[in-house]
Amino acid sequence: MTNGDHVATAMRMRALLHGHLVSRALTVVARLGIVELLTDGPLTAAELASRTGVDPASLRRLLGALAVFEVFDDLGDDKFGVTPLGATLHPECPGSTLPTALLLAQDFGEIWHDLAETVRDGGDAIQRRFGVGLFEHLQQNLELHDAFDRSQARGMELEAAEIFEYVRFDAGGTVVDIGGGDGSLLAEFLTRQPGRRGVLLDVPATADRALANLEKAGVADQAERSSRATSSRSGLSAERCTCCAMGEFNRSLQHRAAVVSVAAPRRPRPGSSSRGSCGVGY
Ligand SMILES: C[S@@+](CC[C@H](N)C(=O)[O-])C[C@H]1O[C@@H](n2cnc3c(N)ncnc32)[C@H](O)[C@@H]1O
Repeated sequence: MTNGDHVATAMRMRALLHGHLVSRALTVVARLGIVELLTDGPLTAAELASRTGVDPASLRRLLGALAVFEVFDDLGDDKFGVTPLGATLHPECPGSTLPTALLLAQDFGEIWHDLAETVRDGGDAIQRRFGVGLFEHLQQNLELHDAFDRSQARGMELEAAEIFEYVRFDAGGTVVDIGGGDGSLLAEFLTRQPGRRGVLLDVPATADRALANLEKAGVADQAERSSRATSSRSGLSAERCTCCAMGEFNRSLQHRAAVVSVAAPRRPRPGSSSRGSCGVGY
């Protein structure tokens, strides 16, 4: 390895090691809504600090640090703009990364401090810290649950096209999305394959959101929401769910899971799957 190669490799490792700090910095700017404030163009750190009620010198350093990682443009004279990378934190950006930042700003980020212990004892960090498993913890913390669902849904917006490129679905029949979250994937599927039936299983609060989203996406001509993991319409039984989900849905929770069953219209609604572009800051 030449000295140049070694320097580049070691620098890469240094960047990896600082990854955690970058993530923390991003969660802070996400919480402050900095990217939204830069929607109409660059502002000074002093203006941003005054609008968000934080210390100008600290915010200047934070934005400067993130400019190194190409999240913001450091334009000189205390001015900062947002780059295409930073613009993905805007709430209106397709596949917005904001919900993921807000999720990591809460327990989901904090829990990684326990990683050494988890590796040592092989346990579950959430169970150790909160006394319950991940999904029960989410159900007990609605703000966190909301952030989790939104983060999953916005990620799905980014992944859906590739999923449908590689996964082939047999013609006809009902598609069942187990742990389907807020219905983003099922909505995309039913938009692409009008006339099909879909069933989604999730915890009650998320199933409610899924039903609303499926209706909003125009893919739920007939929709049914049942509070038990069995439904005459879906024909889905709790026992079968256990098999499908390969143990993910434990017995205590599966009986609390809700089923959303939808019959999609025969024709796709024009524009129902169209997405705008970010249009933020550039
Ligand atoms: C990792 S998320 C995936 C969400 C969505 N499928 C996606 O890919 O964006 C797992 C989902 O399973 C749900 N889930 C986990 N355990 C469950 C259970 N026992 N009963 C019902 N839903 C459950 C969660 O609420 C969550 O929406």
